[in-house]
Amino acid sequence: MRKWLGLVGLVAALSSGLVSGLVLAQIDLSDFDDDSMRDMDDANKDLGPVLGAGNAEIALADLDVLRKTLLQTQDYFEKKGGTDDAVKIARDALALVSTAEAQIGARNFDGAAATARDISKNCKSCHDLYKPLTK
Ligand code: HEC
Repeated sequence: MRKWLGLVGLVAALSSGLVSGLVLAQIDLSDFDDDSMRDMDDANKDLGPVLGAGNAEIALADLDVLRKTLLQTQDYFEKKGGTDDAVKIARDALALVSTAEAQIGARNFDGAAATARDISKNCKSCHDLYKPLTK
């Protein structure tokens, strides 16, 4: 019996996820700033190698680009409304940016590189929910 209830719960959770995914796919993104996202993409791709090379100055500059766009993204989704998880994901990313900066400050480049990988996962978690598949 308990097994069945678990299964019903799982199916309900999966289908509600699917439904919200479909609803979210319909939000209007025509006023979204794609250029900033592309700048952020460049900075994010640069970050791993730069941290590997122990270059604090460039890594911090890359993180500045990320912070600027993430703040803008957070603001965008706050204004849009009904997209609370996007706001939360952007906020989590901003916290990761601060963590990476502190790690660089402490010359902990391995730690900062691990945080940079978490940032990339964070990008993906927002894209999975909000970025149209055609982008
Ligand atoms: C809170 C949500 C969110 C976060 C976090 C986020 N993105 Fe995006 N991103 C989007 C959305 C939404 C789009 C699609 C915009 C559209 O369709 O106009 C997008 C589009 C993009 C694009 C395609 C732009 C284009 O039109 O060519 C790139 C590249 C990109 N993001 C990179 C990143 C990177 C790198 C990160 C992490 C450092 C990131 N994004 C974090 C929401 C997010």
